[in-house]
Amino acid sequence: MKPNHFTIVLFSWLVAASLCGQTPPTNTNMDAFVSGLLGRMTLEEKIGQLNLLSTGFDVTGPVASKNVEANVRNGSIAGVFNLYTPARVRKLQELAMGHSRLRIPLLFGYDVIHGHKTIFPIPLALACTWNPELIEKSARVAANEASADGVNWTFSPMVDIARDPRWGRIAEGAGEDPYLGGLIAQAMVRGYQGDDLTRSNTLLACVKHFALYGAVEAGRDYNTADMSRLTMYQYYLWPYQAAVDAGVGSVMASFNEVEGVPATGNRWLLTGLLRKQWGFKGFVVSDYTAINEMTLHGMGSVEHDAELALKAGLDMDMVSEAYVKYLKKLAAEKAAPEAIIETACRRVLEAKYKLGLFADPFRGCGEERAEREILTPENRKFARDLAARSFVLLKNADQTLPLKRSGVIALIGPLAESRRDLLGSWSAAGDWKSATSILDAVKQAAGAEVSILRARGANLVDDPVLLETLNSSGADIVPDQRSRQEMIKEAVATAQKADVVVATLGESFAMSGEAASRSELGLPKGQEELLKAVVKTGKPVVLVLMNGRPLTLPWEEAHCSAILETWFGGIEGGHAVADVLFGEYNPSGRLTTSFPRNTGQIPLYYNHKTTGRPYLGDPHVKYVSRYLDVANSPLFPFGFGLSYTSFSYSKVRLSRRALAGDQTLVATVDVTNTGRRAGEETVQLYITQPVASVTRSVEDLRGFQKIFLQPGEERAVSFRITAEDLKFYNSELRYDWEPGDFVIRIGPDSSQLYSATLHWTKSQ
Ligand code: BGC
Repeated sequence: MKPNHFTIVLFSWLVAASLCGQTPPTNTNMDAFVSGLLGRMTLEEKIGQLNLLSTGFDVTGPVASKNVEANVRNGSIAGVFNLYTPARVRKLQELAMGHSRLRIPLLFGYDVIHGHKTIFPIPLALACTWNPELIEKSARVAANEASADGVNWTFSPMVDIARDPRWGRIAEGAGEDPYLGGLIAQAMVRGYQGDDLTRSNTLLACVKHFALYGAVEAGRDYNTADMSRLTMYQYYLWPYQAAVDAGVGSVMASFNEVEGVPATGNRWLLTGLLRKQWGFKGFVVSDYTAINEMTLHGMGSVEHDAELALKAGLDMDMVSEAYVKYLKKLAAEKAAPEAIIETACRRVLEAKYKLGLFADPFRGCGEERAEREILTPENRKFARDLAARSFVLLKNADQTLPLKRSGVIALIGPLAESRRDLLGSWSAAGDWKSATSILDAVKQAAGAEVSILRARGANLVDDPVLLETLNSSGADIVPDQRSRQEMIKEAVATAQKADVVVATLGESFAMSGEAASRSELGLPKGQEELLKAVVKTGKPVVLVLMNGRPLTLPWEEAHCSAILETWFGGIEGGHAVADVLFGEYNPSGRLTTSFPRNTGQIPLYYNHKTTGRPYLGDPHVKYVSRYLDVANSPLFPFGFGLSYTSFSYSKVRLSRRALAGDQTLVATVDVTNTGRRAGEETVQLYITQPVASVTRSVEDLRGFQKIFLQPGEERAVSFRITAEDLKFYNSELRYDWEPGDFVIRIGPDSSQLYSATLHWTKSQ
């Protein structure tokens, strides 16, 4: 049998390794193996392992790396990102294995954020399924596909808590809640890494962006973040720590500063907290050119920043090339001790070892496997199901939905035909041409008794500057050249001929994600005008939203008959919209981020404090915490979402009203499906501690259960609560619980809860 490339390369590695005195890696203890290798590395080669370059298909930052191949040959690179396909990966890996002195395999990173080629809904949408098991499965599928395509490291999960929807990257995370965010972070790490990272269908995960990136001031991307340590610990750090607890292999430092020092060079953050307190054992990578950017933050020259970053605990430099430029000199001057360089290098080599790269640098990637395992019918089916589960029904007056399979439907709006937008931002290797538009999917699903009329009605955006900005980041918006009035006129005439109007409105995918902050969160003006004109016809209007963040929709909420939030639903998003519109799937998604009434309310989140002057609903009382011109409450609260059926809740029953120490409380409600269709309900548990040594949130999510009920079916849903669930950080930043009164709240969302009170003391 003719040896293939892989056999030749592996053989040459083994020969090289044994010549260098290395024993084959598979049976070798990692420490001994890595120490042995380190012992043979020059300082330059060690520094090379701290250098990550971007090459290949996408440019995901302001600078493109050059001379990648030369860097691979001379061993001054740990890996690359933005390059995939078995052929390309093999070519570069063969170069590393065949031509670099020590034949150290490369990492191949990529932003596999919500699927590789089978693109799932954007992460914010996935979170709205409130289903960690299925989210884990989506990460598993993504890992399988991406690894078949040669990728071995993903820059995911992104777990930044965000309370400000002006920030476009809210689309990439799980929303505003630390508890749910933590569960999802862990699910994703498990999904990517599996239980054995050496298996060729896993990916090394990278939790990002550490830390507090979601709290950038005014929602403007890359802006300053600043908060008390207590707030960090209580709300923002939780999901990163959860990912570390789940064994995430790498961490990405965030662009922003933390307590006045950029995260990239923040020793308290990257060493004190991450390693010493949390026990993180993997490696830390910077974000794109973030070491260079420390200069603009005001931290001094790039050379100095490289020193700061290294000493802070930042192991790998993404694209800045500051480490390869300066660390040797800094080491010679004793400014950057070689021991630190060696430790950082060890961490990177350990990650490669754990991935099994020393045993199989190609991890079984090949055309055949890629062909067989990527974008399979099963994966697509799963993506369709997951997309339907991520949609949130925000309004459904007079049971406008599901649509009847007879009569005339007018499908208007600029997004009905867009396939690119369905994929959302960070859609990795996804190809929008394999998606089906909402228009086509609705046509396919409608059946012979339905006629579909179509009018575009408006452009996605009208502002020419915005249009150009979006198109320069790949939005691919081709504006209709007709005037606004002409387009609206056509849409109104179309609506008049229909029984029901489905208006597909919202954002271009490029209006959310990285570097896509917005100061106004309404529908773009032209779309808003269109909607108003169509509503005026008196026809029932179903607003189908596509967007990557909460929008401000007070007018829409008051005037549309139904509103279905579909986010960016991924490669099967079009079909999933049709499934939900026609009732093939009964919507079950619940918001994980509050929808404000206007941007002036932002930041807006459910787990806020009461303040000393809470507003209790009487507008005649003056000196209270409220707005004169808008309610304090969100338009749609955290946890909210409707179904085509309805559910009722009994009062909360507690197993006891007085507890001590490690006793367990059981809180139960009976939930009944009071409608005419089977449906899924997400029963949510919140806990409040009205009095404590530090002020507490009005409530904190501490549990939830999803139950599927047939019409008329009733189910008792119980939560077991222990003192662990009562813990919080006190002003010494100690995580513990304090005795006192507690309110247990259970219900369908954060604003409609049934409560019961109890007392919990420390000892029995
Ligand atoms: C983003 C990261 C991403 C990296 C690599 C950066 O601009 O902030 O989230 O992983 O680019 O593409």
